[in-house]
Amino acid sequence: MTLGTVYLVGAGPGDPELLTLKAHRLLSSCDALVYDSLVPKALLDLVPEHCERHFVGKRRGHHSVPQPSTNAVLVELAQRRRCIVRLKGGDPFLFGRGGEEAAHLAGHGVPVEVVPGVTAGIAAPAYCGIPVTHRSAGSSVTFVTGHEEIDKARPGVDWRGLARSSDGLVIYMGLHNLRRIAEELLAGGLAGDTPAAVVQQGTVHGQRLLVASLAELADRVEAEGLASPSIVVVGEVVNQRVESCAPQPADAEMPIPF
Ligand SMILES: C[S@@+](CC[C@H](N)C(=O)[O-])C[C@H]1O[C@@H](n2cnc3c(N)ncnc32)[C@H](O)[C@@H]1O
Repeated sequence: MTLGTVYLVGAGPGDPELLTLKAHRLLSSCDALVYDSLVPKALLDLVPEHCERHFVGKRRGHHSVPQPSTNAVLVELAQRRRCIVRLKGGDPFLFGRGGEEAAHLAGHGVPVEVVPGVTAGIAAPAYCGIPVTHRSAGSSVTFVTGHEEIDKARPGVDWRGLARSSDGLVIYMGLHNLRRIAEELLAGGLAGDTPAAVVQQGTVHGQRLLVASLAELADRVEAEGLASPSIVVVGEVVNQRVESCAPQPADAEMPIPF
């Protein structure tokens, strides 16, 4: 049997204009679409009318579709469709389980190809004028998930180590554990007045920016009611913000998960 190809496509962070040309071409011609919560609504309109659509994200108050079910949907679609787009927010290989899906598909003999996307960790700060690296504000940046429980039994993110080894941090899924993360970073040696920022719903309608010192960050986020999806930036780069270079967020919405 000839199997269809699954394209693991990055949808970008929300502004539909940040979609790559390759992603646009594939969306406009695919005959099956499998998509997540953090995908801009406007992109779903690009697919042809005959395209079969499957939502596998998390709806408010519900659990996500389990990963094995998503994997099974993709393999099953490859058996009867020619061009399947697996659309994921941001970049599919950055905290998006794209690697797991690619391995699963390849393991089942399904042709699979990745189409990188613009990641939220760079774009959301950029839409506020914050560069994630800067020659005079340090020479390293770490993309890190804040999702893992800090006191879980198996070793997770070494926040204290990161405080010592990375000039800047870009934290995905970090709001839930923000207080603990900040405490760990301070315990690891970062000064309380280290600049930090939170960008909620970066690049789209509803974008919000909060700038605070690391010591005050969690209280300020709580007081001002910032919510997911948000990117947290910690480090001197926050002070390199050039407000006037920030683009206008797109008048677009994406489904808000969690
Ligand atoms: C499962 S991760 C997926 C990351 C995605 N693959 C990427 O490259 O951007 C989801 C997290 O990305 C971040 N995120 C995604 N889109 C965002 C946006 N428009 N603004 C702020 N944060 C965003 C949030 O931290 C969110 O909890």
